[in-house]
Amino acid sequence: MTIYHFVVPCLMGTEGLVADELKFNGFEGVIAENGRVRFDGDMAEGARANVILRCGERVLLELARFKASTFEELFQGVKAIAWEDMIGRRDAFPVKGYCLDSKLHSVPSCQSIIKKAAVERLRERYSLSWLEEDGVKYQIQFAIIKDVAEIYLDMTGAPLYKRGYKQESNMATIRETLAASMVKIARYRGRETLIDPFCGSGTIAIEAAMAALGIMPGAHRNFEAEHWGFFDTTCFADLREEYQENERHEKLPIFASDIDPACVAMTRENARRAGILDCIEVTRADALKMTYPKERSVIITNPPYGQRMMDIEQARRIYRQLGRQMQGCTDLKKYIITSDEEFETHFGAKADKKRKLYNGMIKCNLYMYFK
Ligand SMILES: C[S@@+](CC[C@H](N)C(=O)[O-])C[C@H]1O[C@@H](n2cnc3c(N)ncnc32)[C@H](O)[C@@H]1O
Repeated sequence: MTIYHFVVPCLMGTEGLVADELKFNGFEGVIAENGRVRFDGDMAEGARANVILRCGERVLLELARFKASTFEELFQGVKAIAWEDMIGRRDAFPVKGYCLDSKLHSVPSCQSIIKKAAVERLRERYSLSWLEEDGVKYQIQFAIIKDVAEIYLDMTGAPLYKRGYKQESNMATIRETLAASMVKIARYRGRETLIDPFCGSGTIAIEAAMAALGIMPGAHRNFEAEHWGFFDTTCFADLREEYQENERHEKLPIFASDIDPACVAMTRENARRAGILDCIEVTRADALKMTYPKERSVIITNPPYGQRMMDIEQARRIYRQLGRQMQGCTDLKKYIITSDEEFETHFGAKADKKRKLYNGMIKCNLYMYFK
């Protein structure tokens, strides 16, 4: 059994959560770094990480790590990889990646050097003058950070936040991985009442329900590596079957609402696709007129920021009214994400804790109120 190194890129601020997910699920060699988490295992463990990770963005199989401060070092390092052990004579191997704080800083140049080195190696090994590249896709990824190159194959394909339940829309929705991170930070396990009064397309409520019911985020989708030929890929189907068998299906105290009927309809449809529509409540309601519970409950929500929807003044009016509406709810924990640095002033209460999280490129804070 060959043990490999894997890398899971993740949203800034979620590294600890991804590391915890991996450790909790019994993965070995887990190390959190800036924007990514490493672990070790065989290819079946790589497949399992794809299926179970709620907060990570993708799973990369590390092929090499070496010093590369010149194009020659990069070329030789890539050419030394035994590409022929993985990539067949007709397979496709596009290259993408990034450079950070390195002498090699031109991404297109590094991309073409890496491609050239892999092509040269494969042409020599297969005694071919031309590679068709019309077969299975092996996406090569690279990261050159502080003059150290890491070369990977991307096992995941469509990013892990694409669980398969969300419809395409222009709505200001948050990524499933961020919603799952918020649910994890709130330690929500399906016992107490959870409310998302600005549910949009329903991401937070759906992710909370899936986690509470043991529905693995990757148990209903496919991954790029399932087409690969150099390991036994039946493990993906076995994992899906095993995890699907353990899914629970029961009513949960999760309430999602939105003022916009189109959002309510979209949340219902996404919940239906996720297989949990009858496990949660989805209604149309104005968050600013709702009565919030006095008994132990939790709000996890993503109100308008005034960036992708509404202007900042409209968003702040919402925060002020929301703060008034929630006054006196002393047993209501609140986890509210927004990019507005002045949220606490408008909401009318200082958060017990703040955590920096990124919604795509937008820098946000998760404001946490424990009572
Ligand atoms: C940033 S979006 C939420 C996106 C959601 N987290 C998702 O993943 O799709 C904010 C939502 O707040 C809703 N909204 C705005 N004002 C509202 C109000 N007074 N009551 C309830 N919902 C409101 C909007 O319709 C919008 O769907």
